[in-house]
Amino acid sequence: MAREEREPARESVMAGGRVCLRPFREDDFPGVAEWMQDPEIAPLVATAYLTPPTMEMIEDCFENLMDGGGWNFAIADVQTGEYLGQAGLTMADRHARRAELSIVLPRRRTGQGIGYEACALLLRYGFRELKLHRVGLRVAAENERAVALYRKLGFRQEGRLRDHSWLHGHFSDTLEMGLLESEWQESLGKGESV
Ligand SMILES: CC(C)(COP(=O)(O)OP(=O)(O)OC[C@H]1O[C@@H](n2cnc3c(N)ncnc32)[C@H](O)[C@@H]1OP(=O)(O)O)[C@@H](O)C(=O)NCCC(=O)NCCS
Repeated sequence: MAREEREPARESVMAGGRVCLRPFREDDFPGVAEWMQDPEIAPLVATAYLTPPTMEMIEDCFENLMDGGGWNFAIADVQTGEYLGQAGLTMADRHARRAELSIVLPRRRTGQGIGYEACALLLRYGFRELKLHRVGLRVAAENERAVALYRKLGFRQEGRLRDHSWLHGHFSDTLEMGLLESEWQESLGKGESV
């Protein structure tokens, strides 16, 4: 991948009311291991984790995060800096200014508005700083909380891939979702994002 597509997560911290996005630190490891070892959460992020990852795989993954390749951030408590989860953008096409969004929180952090605030910060970074034109993602149709979060952020459903994944013991549809820069600007005007 070209150098500019792997630019490391910058030191600058994006802060909202309750959470900030910052580079990873050594003491984030237990939080990362927590969600990677959770059989309910990890497969929602990547089907590679349908089989629980070994400690060696978790350490490799954490090392990559610490190396700072791409725009991957720890989501942290704005007051204490404590790890609450992680979110990132992967540049999929530099010429089309298109990136893919990903996010995951340990289970005990879900349902508290952290995902919404973190994604809103990340989208602002993507559209304002990286000058993205489009942010896309794929999500399991049955992952209601994630789908609701993305809709709340302004993402539109663009397709449905039937029986696309194997999740929690059955075939599962996958939704393709996308958000254009113009739509994000519009949602800001309506006060729908942080
Ligand atoms: C998906 C995820 C990032 C959402 O973050 P979150 O902090 O839990 O979500 P929020 O609390 O910000 O809620 C956002 C919206 O989701 C909806 N929501 C929250 N809890 C929900 C639930 N249990 N069921 C359905 N919808 C729910 C609500 O519409 C909520 O908006 P509201 O607070 O205005 O009502 C987080 O739950 C997570 O990491 N899940 C596991 C990994 C994962 O699924 N990652 C995404 C893979 S594509």
